[in-house]
Amino acid sequence: MTCIRSEIIGHGHYLPAKELTNDDLAKIVDTNDEWISTRTGIKSRHVAEKDEYTSDLALKAAEMAIKTAGIKAEEIDAIVLATVTPDNTTPATSAKIAGKLGMRVGAAAMDISAACSGFVYALTMADNMIRLGQMKTVLVVSAETLSKITDWTDRNTCVLFGDGAGAVVLRAKEGNGTSEDTGILATKIYADGTQYENLLCNGGVSTTQTSGYIWMNGKEVFKYAINSLSEAAEEVMKMGQVEAKDIDWLVPHQANVRIISGVGQKLGLPEEKVIVTIDHQANTSAATIPLALSEKMTDGTIKKGDLVVLNAMGAGFTWGGALVRI
Ligand code: UT7
Repeated sequence: MTCIRSEIIGHGHYLPAKELTNDDLAKIVDTNDEWISTRTGIKSRHVAEKDEYTSDLALKAAEMAIKTAGIKAEEIDAIVLATVTPDNTTPATSAKIAGKLGMRVGAAAMDISAACSGFVYALTMADNMIRLGQMKTVLVVSAETLSKITDWTDRNTCVLFGDGAGAVVLRAKEGNGTSEDTGILATKIYADGTQYENLLCNGGVSTTQTSGYIWMNGKEVFKYAINSLSEAAEEVMKMGQVEAKDIDWLVPHQANVRIISGVGQKLGLPEEKVIVTIDHQANTSAATIPLALSEKMTDGTIKKGDLVVLNAMGAGFTWGGALVRI
C-alpha cells in the first residue's frame, strides 16, 4: 500500500577547529590518555571558541546539508533543532538559524530538548509532520557546545564531552509501505522520569538562574544505556519488519565505546557494521548521530540503499531509535 516516507536527501556536519587531545586534558586535570582511551574510547574532542555559539556550529552543518540536498533554503517548511546548549534561553535557537539560512518567513522553527536522544526525538517529530502531510521538506539539526556547561575541574565529566553539529534534510516521497522503501521506516521514542537525577545539568532558569554544569552517576547511566539502546534498536527493527542480519549499519549515540560494543553484541551485529566516531568527536550529546552519519555518508562508507539503525540514550532518561533506508 502506498504511503508517505521521509527521505534523507541531504546531510551535513561540522566540528569546531580547536581540538583538545587527552594529553592536553592531562595538563588541566589529574587524568591520562590511557585511562580515557581504555574506559571511553575517546582520544580527542573539538571545542568551540568563547564567541563561537551553538547556532554557528548548527549553521555550518545545515548549510552543508542543504548543499548536498541540492535545494534552496526557501524550500524548507520547518527546522527542528535538538540541543541542550541554546544560544539564548528564549527564543529557540532554531529561529536564529532559520533567519541566517534565509529560510522563508513563515516556515516553522522549534527546538527540542531531549539531551543525547535529541536527534532521534527531532527526527521522529519531523517524520511525523511529513507523514501527516503538514510539511514537505524539514531540516533536522543537532548542535551542541557542551564545553560551555562542562566543569573543567571535574575529571569525572570533562574528559567525556565535545562540541559539534550534524544535520539532515528530510523530504516527503511516496513509498510502497515495505522495508525496501527509502526513507525513515520506523521510529520509537521513550523516557523514564524516575531517572531525572542520575544525569543532569545542576542549574537552570527556574532553579538557580544559571545554566549549571553537567553531573552524572556514570555507573547508573552505563547500566541503563546498554539495555535501553538495545530495546530501542530491537523495537524499530520489529516495527520495520527487518532482522539484525538485514542491517547494514548501526549508527549509535557515541557516549562510550564499551557501551557501543555491548549494544552491538546484544543485537548480534558484527563489529564492522557498528559505526564508531567517538575517538575524535567524544560525546557531543544530540549531535553524535548526525555527525557520524554525515561523516560516513561523505566518505562513502554509508551508501544509498543501505539499511541503518540509529539509537540514542541520555538525560531524562530519554532514549529512542530509528530505522532508515538511506
Ligand atoms: O551520553 C549519555 C550519557 N553518558 C554516558 O552514557 C556515560 C556512561 N558512563 C560511562 O561511560 C562510565 O561510567 C564513565 C566513563 C563515566 C566512567 O567509567 P567507570 O569505569 O564507570 O569508572 P568509575 O567512575 O568507576 O571510576 C573508576 C576510577 C575512580 O577511581 P577509584 O575511586 O577507583 O580510585 C575514579 O576516580 O577512575 C577514576 N577516574 C579517573 N581517573 C583518571 C574517574 N575519572 C577519571 C579520569 N582520569 N578522567
